[in-house]
Amino acid sequence: KGFGHNLKIILDITITIQILCVYSSAQDAEGRCICTVVAPEQNLCSRDAKEGQLRQLLEKVQNMSQSIEVLNLRTQRDFQYIMRMEGQFKGLRSKQAGVNNPERELKGKMETLQPLIPVLEQYKTDAQLVVQFKQEIRNLSMALTAIQEEIGAYDSEELQQTVLSLESRLRNCMSKLTCGKLMKITGPVTVKTSGTRFGAWMTDPQASPTNNRVWYMDSYTNNKIVKEYKSIADFVSGAESRTYNLPFKWAGTNHVVYNGSLYYNKVQSNIVVCYRFETGRVVTQRALENAGFHNVYPYTWGGFSDIDLMADELGLWAVYATNQNAGNIVISQLNPETLQILGTWNTEYSKRNAGESFMICGTLYITNSHLTGAKVYYAYSTKTSSYEYTDIPFHNQYFHMSMLDYNARDRALYGWNNGHQVLFNITLFHIIKTEDDS
Ligand SMILES: *[C@@H]1O[C@H](CO)[C@@H](O)[C@H](O)[C@H]1NC(C)=O
Ligand SMILES: *[C@@H]1O[C@H](CO)[C@@H](O)[C@H](O)[C@H]1NC(C)=O
Ligand SMILES: *[C@@H]1O[C@H](CO)[C@@H](O)[C@H](O)[C@H]1NC(C)=O
Ligand SMILES: *[C@@H]1O[C@H](CO)[C@@H](O)[C@H](O)[C@H]1NC(C)=O
Repeated sequence: KGFGHNLKIILDITITIQILCVYSSAQDAEGRCICTVVAPEQNLCSRDAKEGQLRQLLEKVQNMSQSIEVLNLRTQRDFQYIMRMEGQFKGLRSKQAGVNNPERELKGKMETLQPLIPVLEQYKTDAQLVVQFKQEIRNLSMALTAIQEEIGAYDSEELQQTVLSLESRLRNCMSKLTCGKLMKITGPVTVKTSGTRFGAWMTDPQASPTNNRVWYMDSYTNNKIVKEYKSIADFVSGAESRTYNLPFKWAGTNHVVYNGSLYYNKVQSNIVVCYRFETGRVVTQRALENAGFHNVYPYTWGGFSDIDLMADELGLWAVYATNQNAGNIVISQLNPETLQILGTWNTEYSKRNAGESFMICGTLYITNSHLTGAKVYYAYSTKTSSYEYTDIPFHNQYFHMSMLDYNARDRALYGWNNGHQVLFNITLFHIIKTEDDS
């Protein structure tokens, strides 16, 4: 009876923890609590007491779920022990049934029960622990509620929102662990309508937070003029601050500005050019070995979009296709200074069947079309060298996407949507094991 009761309490506690986890965490395959943080909101790392408190509480919940797991294991082990003892006890009884000697039977029983005593002692200790855990969880629960009430209405409909807000404020405090998986794309917001149907616009993800310069590269061919704006507002109003006349024309729309340099594909070649805005000079140029170019392996819309340069949290990347990989997408990480290839991954996704692709946290996301109904269809992780199919829709408002690139600083997707410059918000899902969190 004691045992069953104990198990029941443990079960209750586990359930309580699971409910607590809904606020802040989920469970992994082994049933441990894992905290989750949802981007994209950006806040500075605040030393706000509430956040510290919440963080501590989350750690405690994590800790306690581990302790309870230990308890659970121990109880299961004890349960097996009791089952064995019970078996022996029954065997003893059947042996003595014919003897009819009550005194001996009792003595035998006592001896059989002897080893159970430490087990029962352990149960008592466990029960005390369980009571303590229960009290602590009640405290945690109350504190979490208090924090939530302090921040916003504790309303069942708004709970999700409150949690998102809490979690996003925690995000930057845990930024080293927050590289996440793309869950959702929202928007777009149309920033401006300008240029031809095909083009590229971007900001520098490596720039300081106050530097919001915008670069604008209209058309996919026969152009080498880059326009610069001091801010998004200047871009919207059309107040150019500079133009750069590149030494070579570009091909496609898949350029990227990274750390003060423009990386682009030189026309009719598989050469990647690194052009430094500050000096107005080409720093490096280097051929991407075996990369198809000039509409050999473009994206679905064509436009010499064979070589796609992009940047994410981990650095600079080139996405292209080779004959060696049967026209399927190849991902190479590049050294931003020398353009040497640091690593290469071969996917099984045909470049010509890809609408666009963008990199987030070392995972390449590929859309299946540039037209209406396009969705993020395939994700390739360079961390695990494995892929999965995804089904993440996005609103292709103006029916033709000729550019889609992730900006890690803004946590947004920059798009060129049929002569409209658009921004998408993204939601990333982060899994943080609090035990690894220092
Ligand atoms: C987590 O558990 C360990 C071991 O029981 C303990 O030393 C540590 O202080 C606990 N951490 C928190 C935040 O409660
Ligand atoms: C729970 O909170 C009460 C009141 O703040 C405190 O006295 C008690 O020690 C706490 N219990 C545990 C197990 O943390
Ligand atoms: C950015 O460029 C500066 C020099 O201009 C260099 O020192 C720094 O390492 C670069 N950062 C990255 C991430 O490449
Ligand atoms: C992205 O989301 C943030 C926070 O919800 C919001 O302030 C911002 O305007 C959104 N941006 C876009 C481009 O939708």
